[in-house]
Amino acid sequence: MYKPISDNKRFEPKMKTGDINKWRTRLLECHEQIPYDLLLLADETIEAINKYVFDSNIYVVEIGHKLIAAYVMYPLNENEVEIKNIAVDKAYQGKGIGRFLLQDASVRAKEENRQSLLIGTAAVALKQLNLYQKAGFELFDVKYDFFITNYPEPIFQDGVMLKDMIMLRKAIK
Ligand code: ACO
Repeated sequence: MYKPISDNKRFEPKMKTGDINKWRTRLLECHEQIPYDLLLLADETIEAINKYVFDSNIYVVEIGHKLIAAYVMYPLNENEVEIKNIAVDKAYQGKGIGRFLLQDASVRAKEENRQSLLIGTAAVALKQLNLYQKAGFELFDVKYDFFITNYPEPIFQDGVMLKDMIMLRKAIK
């Protein structure tokens, strides 16, 4: 069962919400359902999501009771945390929420005293690579054959079979 890490006392965010511009995020509580419908926009299968989601904190944006965006923060070690999944409901994409979520994740990484925030995406995901670099992330590694090794079926995006994952990192100051 999903249990926010801060409940486990592995780390405790000092702020309950990130409040930048008009959007705000909150930590998903352990009694709430994992928003797989959102997370499946950014990852292929529930099995793949389950490999990281139970050891992560999930932050969500909501309008009324509807979750419209989420990101998943997975601690790699004491110093580094990775955004394993970031997704905005299709109806709300292109309104700056993705950019806000990346800012929010940086704030939370700082609150957790992390030194680096990581994110990975397919080498063909040009929109995402553009967004992450505008948000201050820099390329530092390639996980070759990641999508071939970690998924049972080939994944295609814009007519290209996904193969390698580009890893980006942002220093948290
Ligand atoms: N074409 C090219 N670039 C675009 C487009 C587009 N159609 N739309 C947005 N962008 C880029 C631009 O650089 C934009 O910057 P700008 O404001 O200067 O124009 C930037 O993205 C920010 O746009 P936002 O509106 O903040 O992005 P959005 O709210 O749509 O969120 C996200 C971006 C999370 C990628 C969203 O589109 C989404 O959920 N996509 C499906 C799931 C996904 O691909 N997730 C990432 C996978 S990798 C991972 O999860 C670790």
